[in-house]
Parts: sequence; C-alpha cells; structure tokens
Amino acid sequence: MTTLPLRQRSAWLALEAHINTLRATNLRTLFAEDPKRGERLHAETEGIHLDYSKQRVTDETVRLLIELANESGLGERRDQMFRGEHINVSEDRAVLHVALRMPKSASLVVDGVDVVAEVHAVLDQMSSFATRVRSGEWKGHTGKSIRNVVNIGIGGSDLGPVMAYEALRFYSRRDLTFHFVSNVDSTDMVEALRDLQADETLFIISSKTFGTLETLTNATSARRWLIEQLGDESAVAKHFVAVSTNAKKVAAFGIDTENMFVFWDWVGGRYSMESAIGLSTMLAIGPEHYFELLDGFHAMDEHFRTAAFEENLPVLMGLLALWNRDFLGCASVGVMPYEQYLKRLPAYLQQLTMESNGKHVTLEGTAVDYDTGALYWGEPGTNGQHSFYQLIHQGTTVIPIDFIGFAKSLNPLGEHHDILSSNVFAQAQALAFGKSAEEVRAEGTPESIVAHRVMEGNRPSNVLLAEILTPRILGSIIALYEHSVFTQGALWDIDSFDQWGVELGKVLAVAIIPELSSDAEPSLNHDSSTNELIRLYRRLKRNGDRHDN
Ligand code: F6P
Repeated sequence: MTTLPLRQRSAWLALEAHINTLRATNLRTLFAEDPKRGERLHAETEGIHLDYSKQRVTDETVRLLIELANESGLGERRDQMFRGEHINVSEDRAVLHVALRMPKSASLVVDGVDVVAEVHAVLDQMSSFATRVRSGEWKGHTGKSIRNVVNIGIGGSDLGPVMAYEALRFYSRRDLTFHFVSNVDSTDMVEALRDLQADETLFIISSKTFGTLETLTNATSARRWLIEQLGDESAVAKHFVAVSTNAKKVAAFGIDTENMFVFWDWVGGRYSMESAIGLSTMLAIGPEHYFELLDGFHAMDEHFRTAAFEENLPVLMGLLALWNRDFLGCASVGVMPYEQYLKRLPAYLQQLTMESNGKHVTLEGTAVDYDTGALYWGEPGTNGQHSFYQLIHQGTTVIPIDFIGFAKSLNPLGEHHDILSSNVFAQAQALAFGKSAEEVRAEGTPESIVAHRVMEGNRPSNVLLAEILTPRILGSIIALYEHSVFTQGALWDIDSFDQWGVELGKVLAVAIIPELSSDAEPSLNHDSSTNELIRLYRRLKRNGDRHDN
C-alpha cells in the first residue's frame, strides 16, 4: 500500500484544521458541556482501564486520529509484524517479540522455522535451570547452593531485568539476593560484589550481541573476582551462565555454551525482557509466575492484533501520544506510577520509547518534517509531587502525564493506599481543571498573590487503573506501551526497531581509551576542546592524592 507523506494525508490536514477548534476551548469547558465525557472517553482490556477523557481531545479528534491510522496503513503494518516480515528495514530483520509470549500450542513459521517451538524449547531450558537453582540442586564450585544472582548487562539486557525484578519483588524468593550491574563505572561492580560470597554467587552475562564493551568489561572483572576468590579457573563453569544470540562470542569469552540460553536477532534489545534475558526474573519469581507474565503480554498482543481501533488501548494511547507531540507541541511525557514496586518503570520506558522513536528519517531515508519521539521520564508517586510537579502544574511547558494506579496495595497498611490513590485522581484533576483567579480570590487570597496561585489547567493526562499489580498485569502494561510505541512509529513512518544513533559515540570512545590509558604522551588529533579535556584528564590522573574511606 502506498501512502502519502504524513503531513499530506487527508486526516492530518483535517486534524490541522480541527486543532483550531480545540485551541478555542479547554478541558473545563469540554467537561462542563458534556457531562458524560468522563464515562465515554475510556477503554478497557485485560483488567487495565484507560481514562483518556482528560486529554485535550474531543470525539472528533479521536475519529480523525483513527482515520489517520487507517490512512497510514497501521493495521497492515501491525499484521506485517505478526507475520514476521522484515519491518526493521535498516537492519533487514523481522520484529517478533510477540512470538516470545505465544503459548506452546501456537505456531509461527518464519523463513521455514517455527519460532514458537524454538521459544518454548528455551523456556523449558530456563525453567529447568531456574528450578534447579531455586531448589538448591544446582551446586557451586565448593558444593554450596546459589544464594546470590548477579545479572551483568546494559540497556535492554539490564533495564527489563531490573524493572521486572523490582516490579515483581512481592512474588520473589526472599532468600535469594539479586544484583544488577550495568555501568562500566567500576563502582557499580565493586558495590554489588562487596558483601557476596563467591561460592554462593551466580553471574548471568546478558548481552544480545556479546560484543558490548561495558558488559564484556564487567563480565571479565567478575570472572577475575570469582577466580581470585575461589582460586580455581574451573569454578567459572558453575558460576557463569550467558544469555545471548551469539554462541561463538560466548564460547570465546570462556562460558560453556551448555550454560547458554539463546534468543534471536528478531528480538530487539529493548523488546527482550521476556526472552532468555528474563532469566534473572524467572529465578526471582519462579517459572509459574514467569508464565503468568508471558500470558499478560500475550493477552495484550491479541487485543492489539484484533480489537477495533476505537477500543484498542495501545492504538488509542499511541494516537494520543502523537496528537500531543505533533499537534499540541509537547516534547516530553511524564510517566508516574503510583505503585512503589514500579519505581524502575520510567527508566525502562525511556529506552523503549526513546531508542525506538527518536528517529529523524522515514523508512525510505527522507528527513521527517514533523516531530517524532518525545522525551520520557518519571518517578513513582507521591515523591514527584514534592519535587518537580510544580513545573508540571504551573510551568511554561505542557507535559502530558501517564498516571498509573492500582485499586489495591500488595502490602496494605492502614490508610496508606487510599491516601496514595487519592493523589492519582487529585493530580489528574488539578492538571485538567486548575484553579481560576475567581476561585483563588473566593478563598480570600490577597490580590497581590492571586496571580501566583492561579493554575491555568488544561494540561493533559491519561489515567491507567488496574486492580492490583500481578505478573500478568505487568506483562499487559509493558505490551501496551510496546504497541503504543509501534503505533506512533508506524504513523511517523520511521524504523522503531533500529538504533544507529548510539553507534558514533561508541566508536569515538574506543579511539579515546588508549589516549587516556597509555603512559606515553599521545598525539591528539581531535577538536581542540576534546584534546584539551584529554590532557587535563591525564594531568589529574597523575595527581598523587589518594582517596581512602
Ligand atoms: O547501544 C545500545 C544497545 O545496542 C541497546 O539497543 C541494547 O539494548 C544495549 O546496547 C545492549 O546491547 P547487548 O544486549 O547486545 O549487550
């Protein structure tokens, strides 16, 4: 199907005309004129309720956005993904994370191979390993069972595992400790290993490519530490496993491929948390809960694949995100989970959204003439309210917010949960409706500070509400965001599955490493700023002061 460039599509042009109607009104008026708005502008699936009535949209906006999705061939592009076509064009790869969570009974043949059968073979291998470690049957080098698990990886090989571990901590084994080392900053590794006994520690080296400098540096140091502690190189076999697509490099690093859990190049790093990259998650929560997590992903996949766009949560969320970005000019989105266990969700979503949709050219390589991916960030509620929410309420930039709340706490304690949840509703209310000068005056506020206390409102938000955080709900929430990202990328006509922008910095760093570490004064051929910074670094490094604790 050939489509016109985005800004020439008729629904886009209609939206450009339509925005003027919305500029002339605000959320207060829209709610006042339409008492049923809050009951109508919502969608629900898999126990997740999305209230988007506080977005700056009308039924007409949503209708036009859906028309834009149809005109952009969103349905066909989604089906291409599910069929395993090479929609990651710049890397010529299929994009099949949806196959990672298909049930064993399903089948998806891509290039002559049933990928679902391959996925379940690895899941079986992971389950059997996790069961052996959790039961104490897997013994370390000295015959002791494993008590500590250290996942070494970065980006998609770290953020998913950490986020899921924190999110599902309630369901995890408390007699096992979990550590996640990602940064090449040695402090990350040293602090993680500080209190660990080597003979009770399992390292999972997680890297899709097994070529990432940070991960290989950390893995090498971990191996050295283990051998030093246990005094025997053969100990590596019982304390190191690898998760990767690259068996050759795993073997070259010195990990027996018997102890390797594979995945495939059709899984993007930021879409890999439920592949073998989830091994630490499975060790923490056990295979049964892990399969519930996969079921939650799959249920949302099916909803995305089959539901009409009008009721399709990921499609609606993606279209609203595009509306806020391109028509309301919002450059940033705040994700605020009112659930302490989701404290790492914003960091996880940062990679998912920004590495996917931070793109400047279309699939054909033409420069885009519209804005693509927004900046994502956030903190768990209510902490942010006492820090940066001031700017969200009264600053000069409008930041749409995704509030995520639950009706029940996993750790009920007195009134805590109702107090927490009241803030979800109150913050969304305050953002949407604000406080007028008349209302401020009516409170007896001195005229000199009336303006300071006025809140203009009309600031958009989504509220996602579910009953309680379970592995299944977590899977559905992550898949919801994945497909929202997909929807945006499809309309923007960009490749949401490559990440060429991260390469240049890596190459430049590799050239600079020897200039920092060599004893001889290097001849520097960078720009004058970089040259000067390197010289200063070398001078400071030679400084004789020591810093002991
Ligand atoms: O540099 C970015 C990136 O390639 C991410 O896309 C990826 O998740 C991360 O590095 C880690 O890559 P790997 O799993 O291959 O070590």
